[in-house]
Amino acid sequence: MDTKKKTVFAIFILGTAMNVFAASGETAKKPPVEGTQGYRDEINRPPEPYKGPPRTGKQVYTYRCAACHDRTTQGAPMPGDDIEWGMRANKGMDVLMGHVINGYKQGLMPVRGGCLNCSDAELKGAVAYMLRESNVQVPK
Ligand code: HEC
Repeated sequence: MDTKKKTVFAIFILGTAMNVFAASGETAKKPPVEGTQGYRDEINRPPEPYKGPPRTGKQVYTYRCAACHDRTTQGAPMPGDDIEWGMRANKGMDVLMGHVINGYKQGLMPVRGGCLNCSDAELKGAVAYMLRESNVQVPK
């Protein structure tokens, strides 16, 4: 190949690559159309795994749990309510954590408290935080 042909060829390859790049950007930006398989895939897509340092119980609580637990939404026990949390604590940590991980009362208390990228340990931290805020001893 002479230099001129090489240059033309290089420009052709570059142009193709840029087109592919631009097209991929475009499909990524387009929101999926409601009712299509793409839409169902999108809403059922598992959340991005959380890669940062472990979050404290208070951080998890503020991030997810407070939405319901800060105002007794549908009977969600509030941190600071020693009577409510005292009764819950009597069930033991395994039972409480089972209800957090799997959800409870037909989803009134949602699976993983709505924090799908929280680890079990982070969720346990949030439960311990609510118990401590209520002056209730964290059960075994
Ligand atoms: C959409 C609202 C909602 C969110 C968000 C939520 N909860 Fe709850 N939670 C509830 C409700 C409602 C109850 C009370 C269910 C009942 O006993 O009737 C509850 C109960 C609980 C209980 C007691 C379960 C038992 O066995 O008595 C624990 C522990 C708990 N939540 C932890 C959490 C944690 C941790 C988070 C955040 C990671 C969280 N919740 C987020 C609504 C919520």
